[in-house]
Amino acid sequence: MRTSELEELPISKIKAIYDYIPPRGIFKMHVKSLTGIETNGLYIDTFIAPDKLNAQNLRANIQKVKDAVKVVHHLNIKMAILGGFTSLLLEGNFNDFEDYDMVLTTGNSLTSAYVVKGLEKAAREHGISMSESNVLVIGATGDIGMACTNYLKGKVNRLLLCARNMNRLKTFGQRLLDEGHEVKYSSDLSELAPEADLIISVASSSEIAISSLKPKVIICDAGYPKNLEEKVEKVPGVFLFHGGMGQLKHGYSFNPDYTSQFYRYPAPHLGHGCIIEIILMAFEGIKENFSMGKGNITSEKIDLMYELSLKHGIELAPFYNSDGILEASKNNSTT
Ligand SMILES: NC(=O)c1ccc[n+]([C@@H]2O[C@H](COP(=O)([O-])OP(=O)(O)OC[C@H]3O[C@@H](n4cnc5c(N)ncnc54)[C@H](OP(=O)(O)O)[C@@H]3O)[C@@H](O)[C@H]2O)c1
Repeated sequence: MRTSELEELPISKIKAIYDYIPPRGIFKMHVKSLTGIETNGLYIDTFIAPDKLNAQNLRANIQKVKDAVKVVHHLNIKMAILGGFTSLLLEGNFNDFEDYDMVLTTGNSLTSAYVVKGLEKAAREHGISMSESNVLVIGATGDIGMACTNYLKGKVNRLLLCARNMNRLKTFGQRLLDEGHEVKYSSDLSELAPEADLIISVASSSEIAISSLKPKVIICDAGYPKNLEEKVEKVPGVFLFHGGMGQLKHGYSFNPDYTSQFYRYPAPHLGHGCIIEIILMAFEGIKENFSMGKGNITSEKIDLMYELSLKHGIELAPFYNSDGILEASKNNSTT
C-alpha cells in the first residue's frame, strides 16, 4: 500500500507498525446477483500477525476483533461476517454484541458447503465413488471440520478424523461411532493418511506433516495458512485444490481495486465462502445469526446456503492451487 517509488519495508517493521493500526475499512465491495439484485459491503481489517495467533495473545486478539465489530456498529452497518481467525468470537461464548442490533455470522456454513460440494465434484470428475471412499478430515473438531464430517457421515465408506486435542477428538469420534458410522480417529496423522482416498484439511496450521498417501488422492485444502500444499502438491497422483471458494459470475468489484495486491487468484471474481455467505444473507434479507457457535452447522444449513449460492449465480470456484487452474483430466491421465 506504499507507492512503488518508496523502498520496501522489512516484514519485522510491517508487523510492528500494523499492530498499532486500529480496525478500519479498507475497500468497498459491490456485488451483483444473477437475479439482478445488487448489494454493497465494506471490508474491515483488524491486523493480527500470524505468529501471534497463539494462546499467549488470545486476550489481545479477542479485543482486536471486538474493536472491529464496534467499528461495524458505529458505521451503522447491520450485517457482518467475522472471517478467518476473527470467527473465534462467534464460535466462543461471547454475548457482547447482543445490544448492537446487528446480524453476525462466521460464514462457516457456506464455506463447509463449498468444501464438501467441491470434494464431491472432484471425486466425480476423477471417477471416484464417494460411498466407497475413506475420507480423512484434518481439523475434524473445528467448526468447519465438524460440519463437513457431519455432512459426509453415511455418505462415505469410512471417516478418518484427525486433530491434536485427543479429548475433543474422542468425544466427537465416539459420538459418530455411537450413531453407527465407520470411524477411526487419531491425533497421529500417520495412522490415518495411508487409508485415505479423499482428504479435507481445515486446520489453521502449516505444520502438518503428511506422508504414505495412496497412489491416487484428492485433497481439498481449505485452511489458512495452506495446510498441506507445500508438502504434497508435487507428489504424483495427488490432486490438491484450494477449497471453500466460490466464483461470483455476475459481478464482484472492489473500490479501491486491490485485487492484484490483496487476493491474487488464477481466475476472476473468486471469493471466500465465508464472505459470500454474508452476501447471500444480504441478497435474501436473512436477519438471523446464520452460522454461530461451534458444531451447530447442520447438513440442512449447508444445502440451503449452497442452493442460495446457485440461485444467485455464485458457483463453486474452478479447481486451482498455487500453480494455477487444475484440470481434473490432467491428473486422471497421469495415474
Ligand atoms: N476457504 C474459506 O472460505 C474459509 C473460510 C473460513 C475459514 N477458513 C479456514 O478454515 C480453517 C478452519 O476454520 P474453523 O473455524 O473450523 O477453525 P477451528 O474451529 O479453529 O478448527 C481448527 C481445527 O484444526 C485442528 N488443528 C489445528 N492445528 C492442527 C494440527 N497441526 N494438526 C491437526 N489438527 C489441527 C483443531 O483441533 P486441535 O486444536 O485439537 O488440533 C481444530 O479441530 C481455518 O484455517 C480458517 O482460516 C477458510
